[in-house]
Amino acid sequence: MTMFATALGGALGLALTANAAFAQCDAGEMTIRFAHVTAERGHPKGEAALLLQQRVNDELDGRACMEVYPSSSLFNDDDVLPAMLRGEVEMAAPSLSKFGAYTESLQLFDLPFLFEDILAVEEFQNSEAGQALKESMLDEGFLGLAFWHNGMKQFSANRPLIEPTDANGLRFRIQPSAVINAQMEAIGGTGIAMPFSAVYDALNSGEVDGQENTWSNIYTQSFHTVQDGVTESNHGIIDYLVVTSEDWWAGLEPDLRDELAQILLEVTHERNRFAFELGELNKIRVRQDGVRIRTLDEETRALWIAALSPVWTQFEDAIGRDLIAAAEAAEGGF
Ligand code: LMR
Repeated sequence: MTMFATALGGALGLALTANAAFAQCDAGEMTIRFAHVTAERGHPKGEAALLLQQRVNDELDGRACMEVYPSSSLFNDDDVLPAMLRGEVEMAAPSLSKFGAYTESLQLFDLPFLFEDILAVEEFQNSEAGQALKESMLDEGFLGLAFWHNGMKQFSANRPLIEPTDANGLRFRIQPSAVINAQMEAIGGTGIAMPFSAVYDALNSGEVDGQENTWSNIYTQSFHTVQDGVTESNHGIIDYLVVTSEDWWAGLEPDLRDELAQILLEVTHERNRFAFELGELNKIRVRQDGVRIRTLDEETRALWIAALSPVWTQFEDAIGRDLIAAAEAAEGGF
C-alpha cells in the first residue's frame, strides 16, 4: 500500500489486518484450508480471510489452524467446490454468481438493478429468506456459513460505454452465470465465461473487450489499466458465500465448531462494515491512475434499466417470484 493510500485508508477508518503472513500449520493440528481467488491485501475478501486466519490461529491454537490461499494459488472458483467435496479444501468464499451448477436460487443476486446498494444486500441477507439461502445447497453437500460483501459492479470496456447500445457487438468476460450471460446478450454483447485469474490477460490481449466488476476487484487486478475507462453503472453486485462441506462441518467436535462459528460471525460483522469504504478507496485509486470514470445521469441509467429488464422475465420462474419480492423489499440507503 502506498503512503497516500495508507493515509486515506486511515481517514476512512479502515483497519486492515496486520502481520497476517501465510500461516503454516503444525503437524497434529487440524488444518482448515481456505481458498479464494482475489488479492489478499486491500481487498474486502482478502482482508476478511486474513482476519479470520489470524483469529482462528490465535484463539484455537493447538486445536485448529487455518491456512489461507489467496489469488487462486490453491484452486480457482471453477475447481474449488468439487475439490471441497473431495476433502481437498475446507472453506472458500466464491462469489454468489459461481454456484449456478448447484442451485438456481442464488442466481437472484445476479439480476441487474435488483439492489440499490450494499446495505440493501445486507438487509435482504439478514432476512429469513436471505438466511435460508445459506442452506439451499445441503442436498449437494454444501453449507453456507456467512455472506461476505465486496460491492456494486461497474462496466468497463475498450471503448466508451455510456448508453446500453454502446455495448453492441462487444465481448465481455463474465463469471459463469446464465443470468449474467443473458444480461450481456440483452445489451447486444457476448458473454465469455472465464476464471478471475485469466481476466487481466484476456483484456490486455483483446481476447475480450470488456468486463464487469467491483472497484476493489478492478483496482487490485489492474483491469482499469487495460480499458478505455470505467462506467459507474452500479448495475449489480459481487458478494460472497463463505461455504464449507456439510460433512466436514458436521464432523467437527461440537465445542470447536461453536467457537469457529462465533469467530466467523464476528469477523463477518467487522469486515463487512469496511467493504463499502474499501470499494470507495479503490475507486479513488483507479481515478488517481488517470483512468476515465464515466457516471450515468438519471435518464441514461433508466435506459440501462429498461434494456436489462427482460433478464428478470427470463429468470423469475427459476429463481422464484417470492424470493425476488423479498429482495426487492430491502431498501438500503446510506
Ligand atoms: C470474478 O470472478 O470476477 C469475481 O467473482 C472474483 C471474486 O472473487 O471477487
